[in-house]
Amino acid sequence: MKIAFVGKGGSGKTTLSALFIRHLAAAGCPVIAVDADINQHLGPALGLTDDQAAALPSLGAHLPEIKEYLRGSNPLIGSAEQMIKTTPPGRGSRLLRIVEENPVYAACARPVALDEGSVRLLATGAFTEQDLGVACYHSKVGAVELLLNHLIDGQDEYLVTDMTAGSDSFASGLFTRFDLTFLVAEPTRKGVSVYRQYKEYARDFGVTLKVVGNKVNGADDLAFLRREVGDDLLTCFGQSDWVRRLEQGAEPELRTLEPANRAVLARLREQAELAFAAREPERWTSQAVHFHLRNAESWGNAKTGIDLATQVDPGFVLGAGHLDAAGV
Ligand SMILES: Nc1ncnc2c1ncn2[C@@H]1O[C@H](COP(=O)(O)OP(=O)(O)O)[C@@H](O)[C@H]1O
Ligand SMILES: [Mg+2]
Repeated sequence: MKIAFVGKGGSGKTTLSALFIRHLAAAGCPVIAVDADINQHLGPALGLTDDQAAALPSLGAHLPEIKEYLRGSNPLIGSAEQMIKTTPPGRGSRLLRIVEENPVYAACARPVALDEGSVRLLATGAFTEQDLGVACYHSKVGAVELLLNHLIDGQDEYLVTDMTAGSDSFASGLFTRFDLTFLVAEPTRKGVSVYRQYKEYARDFGVTLKVVGNKVNGADDLAFLRREVGDDLLTCFGQSDWVRRLEQGAEPELRTLEPANRAVLARLREQAELAFAAREPERWTSQAVHFHLRNAESWGNAKTGIDLATQVDPGFVLGAGHLDAAGV
């Protein structure tokens, strides 16, 4: 299952994605955690020291190798240089699984031990000013989009991404690559306005978007979110002393999280399971193609000097058949 946490800076994306990741790992689920936020904080939120986090390899720096691996023997992709972030997989492409060893994980993923279980962490690397923008060929989040487009993941296997709600993910197709997107919103006008903007982009693509209120304190906060967000409001995480202790440098065990907040994490997982059951591989694949053609026309063809539409393998659908073939 591919899950994203988005929202405005400071809303609690990193806090809630780290907690959800810990919750899944404690339940025994294989998890790949992906830090794709402008501010790279997921490593420390999962318990890495600042030095360990700073030493994480960046997906952005390994983009050429990632492309070379993923294209495999796909005859429609002439070289890694001709592969852009939206180039879809086809016959001959190499697909990634959540639980396996492969050169991409060997180069970029690092194991993180948690108080219950462990996960693998991938990080895009810190963003610079030049990285942000529509025509960014070497976009760091582009590596994440490539991985998602080549990933076959089964039930109870998770990839959880801590991501910004920025324009970069809308310019490409990244925001449509998830089974479920949690929009973290504080009960404030700003929190809600980021939700409205995201919803507007997401509407035409059938993105499953659920709002998770955060730092919700009492009935008035809840009533505000209910009024502004309506049925998209899934659940609310409270103002948490446990999170505050964490922020103060303590290392509280997950099982000591406030029961009401632990129940919120369980609710997120339930929602993920519903999203998994509602998967539509054909639609998901055709959206990948849609965004590839759009990126090809707007900058990709000019950049690579070839017609990138020729990379689309019309008979290829990433889906259940691959899982069966992989024996998952
Ligand atoms: N439910 C909560 N209770 C208390 N503090 C919280 C809660 N959620 C987030 N915080 C605090 O708010 C700040 C911003 O959270 P963070 O997860 O870093 O936001 P983002 O990743 O969206 O920028 C952090 O100091 C974090 O500890
Ligand atoms: Mg963050």
